Amino acid sequence: MISLISFYGSRGIKLVRGEGQYVWDSQGNRYLDAHTGHGAAFLGHRPPKVVQALKDQLDSIMVTTPSFPSESMEKCLSLLNRILPSNLTNVYFQNSGTEAIELALKLAFKATGRSELLAFTNSFHGRTLGSLSVTWNPKYREGYSLLDVRFGKFNSIDSADLVSDRTAAVIVEPIQGEGGVKPSTSDFLREIRRACDENGAALIVDEVQSGFGRTGRIWAHSSRGIEPDILTAGKSIGGGFPVSLIAAKDWIVKNLKGGEHGSTHGGNPLACAALYGGIRTLLEDDVPLKSGRQGEKMLGALREIESKLIREVRGEGLMIGIELRIDTGSIIRDLQSKGVLALRAGRNVLRLLPPYLVTDDDVDILLKEVESALIDEQSRRGLG
Ligand SMILES: Cc1ncc(COP(=O)(O)O)c(C=O)c1O
Repeated sequence: MISLISFYGSRGIKLVRGEGQYVWDSQGNRYLDAHTGHGAAFLGHRPPKVVQALKDQLDSIMVTTPSFPSESMEKCLSLLNRILPSNLTNVYFQNSGTEAIELALKLAFKATGRSELLAFTNSFHGRTLGSLSVTWNPKYREGYSLLDVRFGKFNSIDSADLVSDRTAAVIVEPIQGEGGVKPSTSDFLREIRRACDENGAALIVDEVQSGFGRTGRIWAHSSRGIEPDILTAGKSIGGGFPVSLIAAKDWIVKNLKGGEHGSTHGGNPLACAALYGGIRTLLEDDVPLKSGRQGEKMLGALREIESKLIREVRGEGLMIGIELRIDTGSIIRDLQSKGVLALRAGRNVLRLLPPYLVTDDDVDILLKEVESALIDEQSRRGLG
């Protein structure tokens, strides 16, 4: 009998259908999805433009590599022009967030000839050996960390002092996701940017979770007055299809030689078709605007909830964290039984990553069920 290694605990339901902001289980129960496969379905389940682009691609060719440039990759590159920061004109496609981080680190090593890295407390950048080295949580990292990494305090401008002429790169999330949904301040990012410029280090901005419209802007860093040297994106960019990318400035790629990187499936025509459909959705459906508007409504209302269990409500757009005074496990289970899927960010932060499609009614349901789950938990604990 073959079984899956249980890295993730089971949520006890089998999801068999997804449409827009909803999923259905095998018993026919419908859920409002604020889990979205760790945020990958931010464009909604089966976004129509992505589904159509994939169907068209399936009917022509499923496999080529960058040695044989595909039409779908060319279409993708021309649309990326409309969403990437103007100086980040060098792009490469990968399959997952963690692979994008690996490539970003390689590029920074190559461009600077250095190998020291600076990351931050509560960072999360993925589960492969390089990205794990710059991930803060010792529970994930210990026993696997390979690279030469220092961890500065997130949001402390003093961390800029840790950048030196030995630093290859500083890697930062504009809003930490897994680490507890913690927005960075503009002052912090600007200080880090300044220190990178003064020391010739590369600034890697990891927008795998915060990017692609989720926070009310295409890129969360853009409201903080900085420009990355390397940007990484993933999760929702292919509308749920596995694809990720890095975009880099010229100085980052200028010393690269052919063969220094590669990926069998990276930039696969199906992945590029999905990304093409994803970018069309982002641009044509006003995704950042809608996400910003519904996010503001949700954050405002969540901050009004009076509960002894809430320590803080944080977030931007539809990237929302409710820090509790307790482990979130029972709340997440209760929400599921009430028809809402949510996830955690660490032990005590309830994370909501709903699709941009959530309507006013959906927002009301989310708020009502979160409040009711908190009230139920309070009375279970005898807190009135
Ligand atoms: C900021 C950030 N970077 C990288 C990753 C890794 O992405 P993946 O799980 O697709 O490898 C994640 C995943 O949660 C993430 O949140």
